[in-house]
Amino acid sequence: MKPIGPLMHEHRLIERMITVIARRKDIMAKDRKVDTGFIDTAVDFIRTYADRTHHGKEEDILFRDLSKMKMTVDHARIMQELLDEHVFARKMTAELVAAKESWIAGNAQSIDTVIDRITTLVEFYPGHIRKEDKEFFFPILNYFTKEEQDAMLAEFYEFDRRMIHDKYRLVIEAFEE
Ligand SMILES: [Fe+2]
Ligand SMILES: [Fe+2]
Repeated sequence: MKPIGPLMHEHRLIERMITVIARRKDIMAKDRKVDTGFIDTAVDFIRTYADRTHHGKEEDILFRDLSKMKMTVDHARIMQELLDEHVFARKMTAELVAAKESWIAGNAQSIDTVIDRITTLVEFYPGHIRKEDKEFFFPILNYFTKEEQDAMLAEFYEFDRRMIHDKYRLVIEAFEE
């Protein structure tokens, strides 16, 4: 398998979750009620799976190796856009969490911010994924030899193997603090 294989598989799961999140958002907007339990689940998915596991492999392995290559101006530009978009998604997620906390604290108007940030996230992800799948992943593979691609895939697997352990270590540490 090529190293972009796992990344593209992960995109499909992210898309499914985005569909679920969009559906739940419509219900929240109709009821004018924040589903805090669902938001916690959605944020955990976004932070642990979409960001740490998925963007983590992109940034810490694929983009790290790409940045050592003599890329075309176009590829370098797209990689920077993708990095900026990851930062944007993190910011929107943090703002969603803050709005949910504000709702819990009794600010009824926070529902509008919750709906707005979810809308931004569900509109953001498909475009970001399309850019990677259609404009970036296949052409940039050509910078790497077969051996380099195999090594990258192995590093992806090792990254994933550590993930579940890191996730629950962080859960414990959050309570210990
Ligand atoms: Fe990405
Ligand atoms: Fe991605």
